[in-house]
Amino acid sequence: MLIDKNEIIEKFKSDSVLVVDFGSQYTQLIARRVREEGIFCQIIPYNLVDKYLKYNNPKAIILSGGPASVLVEETPEISKEVLNSDKPILGICYGQQTLVKQMGGKVITSNKSEFGRAKVKIINDCDFIKDVWKVGEEYQVWMSHGDVVSEIPTGFEVIAKTEGADFAAIANKKLKIYGVQFHPEVIHTLEGKKLIKNFVKNIANCESTWSMKSFSNYKINLLKKQIGKGKVLCGLSGGVDSSVTAALLDRAIGDQLICVFVNHGLLRQGESKEINDIFNKRLGNRFLNVEASNVFLDSLEGVKDPEMKRKIIGKKFIEVFENEAKRIGDVDFLAQGTLYPDVIESVSFSGGPSVTIKSHHNVGGLPEKMKLKLVEPLRELFKDEVRILGKDLGLPDYLINRHPFPGPGLAIRIPGAITKEKVKVLQQADSIFINEIKSEGLYNKIWQAFCVLLPVKSVGVMGDARSYDNAVVLRAVTSVDGMTADIYPFENSFISRVSTKIVNEVKGINRVTYDITSKPPGTIEWE
Ligand code: XMP
Repeated sequence: MLIDKNEIIEKFKSDSVLVVDFGSQYTQLIARRVREEGIFCQIIPYNLVDKYLKYNNPKAIILSGGPASVLVEETPEISKEVLNSDKPILGICYGQQTLVKQMGGKVITSNKSEFGRAKVKIINDCDFIKDVWKVGEEYQVWMSHGDVVSEIPTGFEVIAKTEGADFAAIANKKLKIYGVQFHPEVIHTLEGKKLIKNFVKNIANCESTWSMKSFSNYKINLLKKQIGKGKVLCGLSGGVDSSVTAALLDRAIGDQLICVFVNHGLLRQGESKEINDIFNKRLGNRFLNVEASNVFLDSLEGVKDPEMKRKIIGKKFIEVFENEAKRIGDVDFLAQGTLYPDVIESVSFSGGPSVTIKSHHNVGGLPEKMKLKLVEPLRELFKDEVRILGKDLGLPDYLINRHPFPGPGLAIRIPGAITKEKVKVLQQADSIFINEIKSEGLYNKIWQAFCVLLPVKSVGVMGDARSYDNAVVLRAVTSVDGMTADIYPFENSFISRVSTKIVNEVKGINRVTYDITSKPPGTIEWE
């Protein structure tokens, strides 16, 4: 939804920034960096920018990267409105390349494409690097490009170069237009956050008027307007995302909200009862617990393909919600705790052109035509931002700090076909792993930990007998937002203890392995 200028001014007294989305996986990170400076920021697909600018008056514009190449015929372009706007502009990666091309410079296919860490050498000073980078010095940045700028437009000068990019940073000081080949929004560009701060605060003169509190007030008002007197059914899994969504809606519309928890038979051990106890107390008869294990497990019978599993589960969820809505009567909206990473890995956040990695259950599984209208108030936030919002809304720590659990649940932690027996084995192993992590005091240091049940059997020896059973994988990662992740470095003695306990106590498991893949190149879940 496009935000009306008056609302922005009213809510944030804002100096806002527009991020033009060309489909980069990092687009929301740009917005997030801007918000971290206390400045409101919206992402709009490149082809809707003119419409946006009719109603809004951002103080600065950032052009995201994207998967396209300006060297092919039909490429996404920056609207003339933006180029002629007299506003400060920062083009990142593809944003820089199309900026250069549209302003009369040249882009070519690089013979030294750069992916990952690179060193920039600073050639000239400008406001963008002021007090952050010094002329003559070298600094680490994060690159991801095949094309490169080969000629800059009139009025521009080079600020920095790398081995693969002669124009790694460029500036037109008079017009306040800047372009960078690297990604200042990712943490591996070590001073990137300060560069973005320079752009929004010192070059564009935005003031810090935005905070999570103002976001929550703004969302509550928006939800009131969007929903009116309508009734909302909220899918509540007990995870932080749906709990915060429910809390926001509770503030906005009170008794018009009904929360539905679906037991799809693919939950962690004891989870259904735990969630039931928590939310029965908090919501009373506005909390419904739907037992649908058999419906989900039957529909997944024999299904091995991860995307198929995700789509089937997404569809079943909607069916259950629509049935409940019919039973309750007069329900107009379905609320979900969809976050930005769910959106960006399923489809582009704002209708732009990014690539599908996985169909997250609450995004990729939605039918073309749905009777209920969707309400997703957290769609532009990352998990850690949602946790802050949850705290602001007064949710207890045990809800806010729970490890993320994917909507499709254990289905995507059992590669191959799913059976009830496999689910039970996995639940037992997983519960042992998590309990050991908790008793060691590690739970809050880890973003997410779980077991995966492999469809692989191996030979073992237990007592004097031969065993031929399945293997489980232990997965534990640290992360800030789920977009990138590193493995958690357990002590060997801890992993050995967990391994022994699982093999001794879980019938059907005779081997335990530890997954040491970061994201990227892996993803956190196995499917
Ligand atoms: P991946 O596996 O894509 O996961 O690296 C990133 C984060 O998202 C969670 N995840 C999901 N969450 N519905 C969700 O609500 C889904 O379909 C889904 N798939 C993955 C995952 O657990 C991790 O925290």
